[in-house]
Amino acid sequence: MFRFKSLMSWIIFLHVVVVIATAIFMPLILYWFLSTAANDLHNQAMRKQAEAIAQYLVPRAEGGWTFNLPLDLHDLYSEAYGRYAYAILDDTGRTLFSSRADKIPIFDLNSHAAEAEYLNIRSGNKIIAGASVRKQLAGRTIWVQVAEDLAHQDVIIDDIVADFFQRVGWVTLPILLVLLAIDIFIFRRAMMPLIRASEEAQHISPAKIDVRLTYDGIPSEILPLVTAVNEALDRLEKGFQRQREFTADAAHELRTPLAILRTRIETLPDQSIVKSLHHDIEGMSRVVSQLLDSAELDTFVVNPDESVDLQLVCAEVAELIAPLALAQGKTITIGGARDPIWIRGNAEMLHRAVRNLVENAINHTPKDTAVEIELTADGFVSVLDRGQGIADAECEVIFQRFWRRDRRQAGGAGLGLSIVKRIVDAHGGTIAIKNRPGGGAWFSVHFVRS
Ligand SMILES: Nc1ncnc2c1ncn2[C@@H]1O[C@H](COP(=O)(O)OP(=O)(O)OP(=O)(O)O)[C@@H](O)[C@H]1O
Ligand SMILES: [Mg+2]
Repeated sequence: MFRFKSLMSWIIFLHVVVVIATAIFMPLILYWFLSTAANDLHNQAMRKQAEAIAQYLVPRAEGGWTFNLPLDLHDLYSEAYGRYAYAILDDTGRTLFSSRADKIPIFDLNSHAAEAEYLNIRSGNKIIAGASVRKQLAGRTIWVQVAEDLAHQDVIIDDIVADFFQRVGWVTLPILLVLLAIDIFIFRRAMMPLIRASEEAQHISPAKIDVRLTYDGIPSEILPLVTAVNEALDRLEKGFQRQREFTADAAHELRTPLAILRTRIETLPDQSIVKSLHHDIEGMSRVVSQLLDSAELDTFVVNPDESVDLQLVCAEVAELIAPLALAQGKTITIGGARDPIWIRGNAEMLHRAVRNLVENAINHTPKDTAVEIELTADGFVSVLDRGQGIADAECEVIFQRFWRRDRRQAGGAGLGLSIVKRIVDAHGGTIAIKNRPGGGAWFSVHFVRS
């Protein structure tokens, strides 16, 4: 079956169908009720009139009847007025008295009829409706027939019914349309908490898994869904937590065997093997400590009260890396601002970020090239090298964990830049990659000044 994608369109469609059906059937049903009620009233009135006329009929002792209608009633039933008529018949159907000059019974006599019969005939442009009432007077049966011409100009009951039909028909439609508008309004209001909840859900990410949908204003019909989503998020958060703990624990547990390995190697007799094994163990230790850094960063939040001198951090990193650079015939220089540059952040984390960038500039560039650290007073720190640079297509993937341009090459695990990115993000900073004129990569990080 055809279904609307939007709940709102579905509701509006159903409403319009109901509005049309109601606009058609409601006036018809009301019209039927009203005309039935009007008909009943008319029948009763006719019967009462027949009973009233019967009171003026007096049986004579010698047989026959005396019938003296008061003048006002006489006028009412006169042919000149033309609205009402009466006829009094005996049980053979012979007319005894009649308001009509032709003395013809108003209705054909039905001797099997009940005590009162209501009849309706149409002749010409006249609609004759009335009652035929059976009476027992002095042991004789007579019939009193009274009728009214409904087409007479003084009869208003038909006009009322017809008028009602038109009016109700026209009033129903606007009322139903107003109801439709109110329903749409109510529905939109009811949907508001749901729209708000979906906006809240958009903020949930692996980095921000502690967000929960608020229960405020959520309709009770939707509440189970919101509760289920929040419970699912609880379980996800626990899963994430366990994974983080596992990475941290695994990295931590690896440190002891590595230390034992290091001391055991020392005891080996062949010193040339010891040297190359040491190099391998250093590589492994680095990966293990990068994994620990990574796990730590997952839950790291900057303390807003902490400030760091970016200038000092860069100087420390340069000093730390200088021996490594010198061993490869490279130089490290710090240029730009010389005064302290205070930024909001964690010294240990910023040190890691800058160190990783400088290590990359040393490790991924050819021998005998220069590495520059450039600082500006407004919180920019740039690391520039003379290596092959970063292709445009690599600018996004380079920050992914374990991404390396050349996997066959020995070296790190490809975690360094992902750590840098997360440290920068945690500090509310930005990182950009450019290629230098004349070749080489240019990593530029901007931190917020305190
Ligand atoms: N300055 C650079 N010049 C050219 N290529 C670079 C530069 N810095 C990083 N890269 C490329 O990006 C890759 C990812 O760098 P990343 O620092 O994340 O990992 P890594 O240095 O390989 O290992 P580690 O986890 O030890 O840092 C590197 O393997 C390298 O191919
Ligand atoms: Mg690196």
